[in-house]
Amino acid sequence: QAVYLRDYTPPAYTIDTVDLYVDLHEDHAMVTGTLNIQAAKAEAKADLWLHGESLELVSVTINGTRLTEQDFRIDENGMLITHRTEMAQPFVLETVSRIRPQDNTRLEGLYRSKNLFCTQCEAEGFRSITWFLDRPDVMATYRCTIEADREKYPVLLSNGNLIGEEPVGENRHRAIWEDPFRKPSYLFALVAGTLDRVEDSFTTMSGRNIDLHIYVDPGNSGKCRHALDSLKKAMRWDEERYGREYDLDLFNIVAVDDFNMGAMENKSLNIFNSSCVLADTATASDASFDRVESIVAHEYFHNWSGNRVTCRDWFQLSLKEGFTVYRDACFSADMHSPVVNRIEHVRFLRTAQFAEDAGPMAHAVRPESYMEISNFYTLTIYEKGAEVVRMIHLLLGDELFRRGSDLYFDRFDGQAVTTEDFVACMEEVSDRDLSQFKLWYSQAGTPCVKVKDHYNAKTGEYRLTIRQHIPDTPGQTGKQPMHFPFCIGLVSDDGKDFEARVASESTATASVSDGHGLMIELRETEETVVFKDIAHKPVVSLNRGFSAPVRVEYDYDTTELLHLMQYDSDGFNRWNAGQILALSLFDRVLGRASAGENSQGGSAIDEADMGFLQEYATALKQYLKPGSTSRQDPAFCALLLQMPEFSAWIERLPQVDIQLALGCYEQATLEVCSQLEQSARQCYDELGAHADIGQREKGAALRALRNTCLGVLSRLPGHDELAWQHFDAAKLMTDQLAGFRALLRYPRSQSSRPAQAIEAFEHQWQQDSLVMDNWFGLQAASRDYGTLEDIERLSEHRLFSRFNPNKLRSLFSTFAGQNWACFHATDGAGYRFIRKTIAELDQNNPQIASRMATPLTRWRKYAEPYSSLLKAELSALAKPVEGTEISKDLYEIVYKSL
Ligand code: ARG
Ligand code: ZN
Repeated sequence: QAVYLRDYTPPAYTIDTVDLYVDLHEDHAMVTGTLNIQAAKAEAKADLWLHGESLELVSVTINGTRLTEQDFRIDENGMLITHRTEMAQPFVLETVSRIRPQDNTRLEGLYRSKNLFCTQCEAEGFRSITWFLDRPDVMATYRCTIEADREKYPVLLSNGNLIGEEPVGENRHRAIWEDPFRKPSYLFALVAGTLDRVEDSFTTMSGRNIDLHIYVDPGNSGKCRHALDSLKKAMRWDEERYGREYDLDLFNIVAVDDFNMGAMENKSLNIFNSSCVLADTATASDASFDRVESIVAHEYFHNWSGNRVTCRDWFQLSLKEGFTVYRDACFSADMHSPVVNRIEHVRFLRTAQFAEDAGPMAHAVRPESYMEISNFYTLTIYEKGAEVVRMIHLLLGDELFRRGSDLYFDRFDGQAVTTEDFVACMEEVSDRDLSQFKLWYSQAGTPCVKVKDHYNAKTGEYRLTIRQHIPDTPGQTGKQPMHFPFCIGLVSDDGKDFEARVASESTATASVSDGHGLMIELRETEETVVFKDIAHKPVVSLNRGFSAPVRVEYDYDTTELLHLMQYDSDGFNRWNAGQILALSLFDRVLGRASAGENSQGGSAIDEADMGFLQEYATALKQYLKPGSTSRQDPAFCALLLQMPEFSAWIERLPQVDIQLALGCYEQATLEVCSQLEQSARQCYDELGAHADIGQREKGAALRALRNTCLGVLSRLPGHDELAWQHFDAAKLMTDQLAGFRALLRYPRSQSSRPAQAIEAFEHQWQQDSLVMDNWFGLQAASRDYGTLEDIERLSEHRLFSRFNPNKLRSLFSTFAGQNWACFHATDGAGYRFIRKTIAELDQNNPQIASRMATPLTRWRKYAEPYSSLLKAELSALAKPVEGTEISKDLYEIVYKSL
């Protein structure tokens, strides 16, 4: 059932124009599609294939002649029309079908979210609206007429320009939209409902005025300001950084409550999960504000990287997604702190994408094959894809990269192209050969880079030996070495970088990079770089700014890492040095525990570890000191203080005994936090008195640090009252959530405050579904308030819904992905529960079910009993119960990971 990249063939027919008439009723919709079709090669006399799923065909005509049963064949994927003479010339095909948006729980195609009709067509949803060649290399201009009840659906929207609106009979009306830009079907959108509209406008660099409209559920118009401001910033930024201007006079955003993903870039009619648009100071955390800003920008940037220049086929998905994530990340970095932004992206990549790349679903940035494309909206396509574009930017430098992107947008405007085309533009403007570099698109797996060094005190020569290795992944072995930028610095005793002079016997080329010291270009399995005139042994700072998405192995000693934590001129690596130290602390404690030295969990950390731990904690205390340089960038300081997540740690380990490792992790973090107690408390109090702490935007960084201090304190006994006060006095959602999270660390036996907070929060926010998602999520992640029993109870809560993806993610995906203590209980009850939940959800919404299965697929990483228990549940998923069927989405995940 798989589709292969190597089988790509251009379509036998093209569709030039689409005229849709969508007639919406309470229990069905009638869709008339009128297509102008043309054979690519008339002499080929090809049969015409049209995708179509869940469509009830009423009639089909060609040039007005009704086709009969003998003229075509229908199966569950579409319709094959036998070739007819009139197909040699351009012809008009008209289909009429009946669909049932009200019963569409998959949330693909045309569906209903409460009282709103809306669409999600990417990747293959259009085929469940009408018969079509539903593939991105078929690009057409669209006209769409929507007819609906006038009272219930006063707002009727589609892509492009509104060219007419008129009443139909007594109670109905219609609107006609026309999109002048050719587009693939996945960018089609339609909305009908009762919505409030918030307006703004933007003047483009060439002086055109654009109307900006955000449509939301009645009552939510007060929550659109931030999205509108973000949109305007994004529009300006794309003009300045990429020279890209918006191309229509109207830009619409619609917020929808039931949505499988974050948002969708439909041409001029972006549809958003309401959680990614709505934000106000009372109900949205600082993190939500940032997420709204970056997703609004992401979808807007797609107008060029995705819509004007689109993908030839779905194997090229990263062409638009990787590039657009890269663009939105640079935008966010420009709007806020670049180093903070970089760390956040890398933290995410290293935990989640590295895990994906090491697991059964590992695939290249341009995959070779897939069964269900929805399963390939992955961290590899998005995040690793963005890293690949970032590396091209690093290799070329600002000026050439911009020339390359200009060429790409100009040359391929209006076309459906490939990642090869993108790279070819970069090669052309830079006169570089990127053929080896392109392995990043075809080879899966995270490269591992092993670095060894040698310093010769007599000659003042410092030699680095760098070996790369790319691990085997399913279906790919024996990989070629990759070409990538590896930025480094040689840090001297005084903390400054040596002015490194690269000797000619080096095998790799090196150049000075913008902002990250020296950029070495690696190409071979092993490379050596030799530096001259180095006065003493330097501390080497590797992969600065995370210049390449690789694992780096180098044998640091503690003093070197402490030195980098303090002095590295590269902020990212200052942070990273602390992470390496913390990880090795966890490794040590686990090593001893596995050797049976502290199996009872009690005293455990021995003296040697304790000394190590104290050195690490002392370095963290330096960061916290009032007046320290790190305190001047509070958001960065907050990151410096945060130890790696449990998941980031175990991602690197083979055969993890989860509960044992968790015990070690908690013990080590508890010990570090107790070392920090006084400093954290002091910092917490000082910041509490800061004039800006209560300001939404100005105070965000201060709150990040202060709430990190609260997080440190809440790992220690006796701070439940402080957490309660924090929670209770909070005026902003960030603080309320930080207080709530902190409180949930105290078991019922230690404090009654958490239970009180759970109740108070619910009481306060029960009317606000998005805020309540946090309430479900934080409990689901808690070892004490997210036990299996709690999850079962919460899933019956009156505010929970099995049809709302946000709720399903908050409760079930959080439990399975973040609640290590409860989900991975050794009796397997957590696994069983999630398996049953997935099987049930798969009947309604395969996309959500298949995503929820990710934690189960990681069974090979774990020791017994986790491994066998997880595998058993996967096998159970593969055999659906009588009367049900497994979706293609879920089948692919289960099949590939067993
Ligand atoms: N293109 C959307 C974005 O901005 C995501 C669409 C996801 N669709 C899906 N079927 N998974 O990233
Ligand atoms: Zn995207």
